[in-house]
Amino acid sequence: MLCISVEEFLFWKKKQLSKGGDQQSFAVLLDCIGGISTSDQNLISINSEGNLYLKKDLDFLGSIWDKHLLESHPIQYLCGITFWRDLKLKVTEKVLIPRPETELIVDIVLNIFEKKSQKLFFAELGTGSGAISIALTLSYPFSDGIATDIDQDALEIAIKNYSNYSKQSNLKFFCGNWWRPLESFKGKLDLVISNPPYIPKDTYEKLPIGIKNFEPKVALLGGEDGLKHIRVIVQKAPLFLKKKGWLILENHFDQGEKVKQLLIENKFTSIEIVKDLSGIGRFTIGRYK
Ligand SMILES: C[S@@+](CC[C@H](N)C(=O)[O-])C[C@H]1O[C@@H](n2cnc3c(N)ncnc32)[C@H](O)[C@@H]1O
Repeated sequence: MLCISVEEFLFWKKKQLSKGGDQQSFAVLLDCIGGISTSDQNLISINSEGNLYLKKDLDFLGSIWDKHLLESHPIQYLCGITFWRDLKLKVTEKVLIPRPETELIVDIVLNIFEKKSQKLFFAELGTGSGAISIALTLSYPFSDGIATDIDQDALEIAIKNYSNYSKQSNLKFFCGNWWRPLESFKGKLDLVISNPPYIPKDTYEKLPIGIKNFEPKVALLGGEDGLKHIRVIVQKAPLFLKKKGWLILENHFDQGEKVKQLLIENKFTSIEIVKDLSGIGRFTIGRYK
């Protein structure tokens, strides 16, 4: 551990942020590589006296910050960590960095299934880092969950993240194409959640390089119109859901009405487009008959 004065640290921090970037990314760097937790960072900003201890020196931290700024390299990948809801998750370039707007998907489930003690059987299709499934398993300790992904490397990360939060085995991980790993659970699921790749091809080509050059294409690209994967998920959902089981999907900002239509065509009821905190119809939900 290296000891420096808070005053020197704050001067250095101001200089780093003046080069660019945002406070939130800087906080990730300080927490994950510098060893200063976000709560300690808040305390320092209130009281600038005394000393603090760093796991790495300021030059090293500055070099990572420069790499982040110069190459648009996401700080979460450089640090190997991201924060999502109340979770601290390992991430590598094999998984999408879970987005803040996706956090709401867990609240949608919490609103539908109010009793935390209920024994839900849920599946998440395309789990990536495992964020959604882990949050649900922790919220519903008596539930059984299945988290799937097409990419075994992504699943390894999700498994590691789960093992950091739970020693239980009520969340299982399977590799495979959308519904394929769930063949033996037809008609048994209370809930299916998915944040599938939904970016239309043209939009994908124009994504900022910080996303396009670093995040997995398989996690983002949803075919020509962005709905390729959503169609497969919605069309087969009736085979796997229990009667009155729920399907909760995240979609692109302008896909809500189209996803709603797909749900209607596939005999879902109680369909609703749920807005995110920016007022965008980010989620479409429905109940199978
Ligand atoms: C948008 S990411 C979502 C990751 C995570 N659930 C989240 O919300 O941060 C989509 C995920 O779907 C996975 N995926 C892509 N195509 C798939 C397929 N055909 N079958 C299963 N999973 C797939 C990707 O590997 C990726 O992890």
